[in-house]
Amino acid sequence: MPDLEKRIEELRAELHRHNRLYYIDASPEISDFEFDQLMNELIELEKEHPEYDDPNSPTKRVGGDLTEDFETKPHRFPMLSLGNTYSKEELNAFLDRVEKGLGKAVDYVAELKFDGVAISLTYVEGKLKQALTRGDGTQGDDVTTNIKTIRSIPLVLSGREVPDLFEIRGEVVLPKADFEALNRIRENEGLPLYANPRNTAAGSLKLQDSTQVAKRNLDCFLYSISSDSVPFDSHWEGLTKARTWGFKVSDTAKLCLTRDEIFNFIEHWEKNRKDLPFEIDGIVLKVNKIQAQEELGFTAKAPRWAISYKYKAEQVQTELESVSYQVGRTGAVTPVANLKPVLLAGTTVKRASLHNADQMALHDLHFGDFVYLEKGGEIIPKVVGVNLKKRKEGSSPIEFIKNCPECDSELIRKEGEAAHYCPNEYECPPQIKGKVEHFISRKAMDIEGMGPETIDLFFQNQLVKNSADLFDLTKEDILPLDRLGEKSAENILKGIEASKQIPFPRVLYGLGIRYVGETVAKKLAKAFKTMDALSLAGKEELEAVPEIGERIADSILQFFHLESNKKVIERLKVHGLNFEISEKEAPLLSNSLEGKSIVISGVFNLDRKELKSLVEKHGGKNVGSISSKTSFILAGENMGPSKLEKAKKLNIPLVKEEEFLNMIEEE
Ligand code: IVH
Repeated sequence: MPDLEKRIEELRAELHRHNRLYYIDASPEISDFEFDQLMNELIELEKEHPEYDDPNSPTKRVGGDLTEDFETKPHRFPMLSLGNTYSKEELNAFLDRVEKGLGKAVDYVAELKFDGVAISLTYVEGKLKQALTRGDGTQGDDVTTNIKTIRSIPLVLSGREVPDLFEIRGEVVLPKADFEALNRIRENEGLPLYANPRNTAAGSLKLQDSTQVAKRNLDCFLYSISSDSVPFDSHWEGLTKARTWGFKVSDTAKLCLTRDEIFNFIEHWEKNRKDLPFEIDGIVLKVNKIQAQEELGFTAKAPRWAISYKYKAEQVQTELESVSYQVGRTGAVTPVANLKPVLLAGTTVKRASLHNADQMALHDLHFGDFVYLEKGGEIIPKVVGVNLKKRKEGSSPIEFIKNCPECDSELIRKEGEAAHYCPNEYECPPQIKGKVEHFISRKAMDIEGMGPETIDLFFQNQLVKNSADLFDLTKEDILPLDRLGEKSAENILKGIEASKQIPFPRVLYGLGIRYVGETVAKKLAKAFKTMDALSLAGKEELEAVPEIGERIADSILQFFHLESNKKVIERLKVHGLNFEISEKEAPLLSNSLEGKSIVISGVFNLDRKELKSLVEKHGGKNVGSISSKTSFILAGENMGPSKLEKAKKLNIPLVKEEEFLNMIEEE
């Protein structure tokens, strides 16, 4: 073996070993600096010598590969769910069933129920080959590239008796501290916050850029091995073996011989779960012996030898100090409870959503009430009840406001809707700001260099009240503002200038006409070709456009009727925004693909984006996944096996790139 190859292998082995010492065994032998040096040496060598590439090289942990489509692949063993219990009685009933089924008392393994995303890892000859999400239980999404960035998942196994082929399942979790750090960054950047660690972990696994995944500090606990033949006869032994092979198996798992031990485990973790670095939502109990498991078998959905016991959501009580009202971008008014600060599930809570007037009425809230709080799926906790015993005598009920807290307009409530709205769409501050934010957003004008907080700053300083004001901004306007230096000012102005190239349909979408989303904007642009024509169109003309009904037509008419909107549009026109559909977009090059739904899959000579646009230019529709409605698949090289299989099953024709080009040429 050439020296070079030897050095590469040596580095890989060393890095795998140190990775395990650090992330699994928590007993590192070298400093982070030394680790980074080894890693950098390997990265360099691999870059210079791609012929020695290894899909399981430690360098894959840094990320770098992109996944455009997460391919769906079958699970070799179905990924089942678990039956749930919520009380001691229900759990005792499960234990009775098990013991009756087996004719004797048995031992169990109690584990934490990690609140994360289930993952199934396949190892072949000791190497990680594939990682699938649960999906529908029979097939999941291939997220291997992203999974490789998780440091606690071994890419190469060590130890004895590693089966040649096996799957191991576990849960990918985002530690609480990392979740909160991520949200702090988002808060600073004015981005919407993530709801909870579980959803964030799930979203992370579906990021296209694995470098971003690598930065998320995801962790993974493994808890179950499936294989045609396993080299152990109890679950407990399996966990122990998995640990020796290099997997992270939680040391909280406990072998329980009696019911008392099981209930002690449950109580212990109910009390102490707040101190764990990650979230759990209960415990899982599994019959220990594999033979006993086999005897009990499965129902259609879940094993009969395992069950979960779910903890109740944590509840606290605190005093309601006042209720304030938030007006959203659409004018919807949300009541918010301001509370005496209280600790709930690890964070201090000062505010809670009351949702709407009905919810408020349901609780019959009075000033000074003591309310119960719970954390649901959202970041903002919710008020779930009132402690009537503590209601102060003579306190008065809280009534929903009648006027907008921002602009004093009288609120309205549409029939059949729960929310109250402020109807002052074009003058109420949060609504105006919301419109400008929408205008600059990625799918509309895509103005780089600014976000909601910049808009807020412009608004506070009375520089921007509508989208046209953006185009009057000068460097002198921006420079005196807090936090905006020379460079930011230049970027903002550059971004604004560049947006003048944005095609007409997106400009139209950016205006934020109610009910005119991306698709409707495209349809309108195609039908009327210019802003002038659209603004002059009558109701009948509007309704003649496919898929435009009365509701949308009325909203468009109302928009162009308003004097303030007319002025903004006139100014945008003067600034040179695209107010008509360009040659490129319209008319269609041909109708050869009209009514056809096309899935593009594989690798092509032409750029994928180019192909997608060709489909549209010839009247076809691009769709993401294969269904019985798919007309054909534009199939390149190396199309994924699961897509191929699905196409075959549904009898959907495959069209090669050349054939496709001929198809549209002919017209
Ligand atoms: S065992 C056939 N063990 O809970 C048994 N699941 O509600 C398969 N989960 O889909 C699951 N912690 O995603 C098992 N220690 C644990 C678990 C666990 C969390 C999740 C898992 C499963 C879900 C079922």
